[in-house]
Amino acid sequence: MAIKTLAELLPDQYDDAEFRTTFARIALQEVDRIDNLVRRLRGLKTSATIQMQPLNIVTPLESTLELLSGELQKRYIEVTRQYEPSLPQIIGSADQLKQVFLNICLNSAEAMGQSGDLTITVGVDPDGEQSEVVMTFADTGPGIDEDVIETIFEAFVTSKNDGSGLGMAICKDIVGLHRGTICAANRSDGSGAIFTIRLPVYQGDSQYESLASDHGLTPATHAVSEFAG
Ligand SMILES: Nc1ncnc2c1ncn2[C@@H]1O[C@H](COP(=O)(O)OP(=O)(O)O)[C@@H](O)[C@H]1O
Ligand SMILES: [Mg+2]
Repeated sequence: MAIKTLAELLPDQYDDAEFRTTFARIALQEVDRIDNLVRRLRGLKTSATIQMQPLNIVTPLESTLELLSGELQKRYIEVTRQYEPSLPQIIGSADQLKQVFLNICLNSAEAMGQSGDLTITVGVDPDGEQSEVVMTFADTGPGIDEDVIETIFEAFVTSKNDGSGLGMAICKDIVGLHRGTICAANRSDGSGAIFTIRLPVYQGDSQYESLASDHGLTPATHAVSEFAG
């Protein structure tokens, strides 16, 4: 990467005014380029062609837990499931939602380390303008650092040495695409973090049409439609 080579030369060539001018110009260019790259990488998750269909949220959730079962076992992490029976459907992309659950569960596993409990609840909130499916993920880790809790859903916010800080930003993008909300908090009993996701309950095909128009597409006429963000 040009910027890295230049930065390595900078201490030696600092007195060369021409070098400094070149450095400043290339540094700006490179920052723009990296910025665009990251935008595109994040965009891949949300604006690639996405299949949305009515689904029970438990289906992608259980696929994710199955995918993670080895990792969770290795870490002696117990998963407790509290799912309300006969949940209403939501409209969603199973693949994208799996990415959300994966990012949340991996963070919890990383936070808990070598043992802990991950409690996942899924229920319905019939209050408010539109009924919502509500999911919570509560872990028994140390909880979210005070200095990241406010900005946790922004890109590059990380407390880890090798963290990308993109996991939660991607979750927010995907949940937003589903017209849902996601929030992070520390558990009131003082042990661990809790993430809450709310997704509107599927109300029928007219919902597709408005979701599609939100994403700048021709309204869908089929039960399975394609979205571009
Ligand atoms: N379950 C959790 N417990 C404690 N802190 C968490 C948890 N999940 C996320 N965080 C905090 O939020 C930050 C951002 O998470 P994320 O966007 O996934 O990036 P990364 O995992 O690469 O750091 C983490 O670095 C961590 O500080
Ligand atoms: Mg992460």
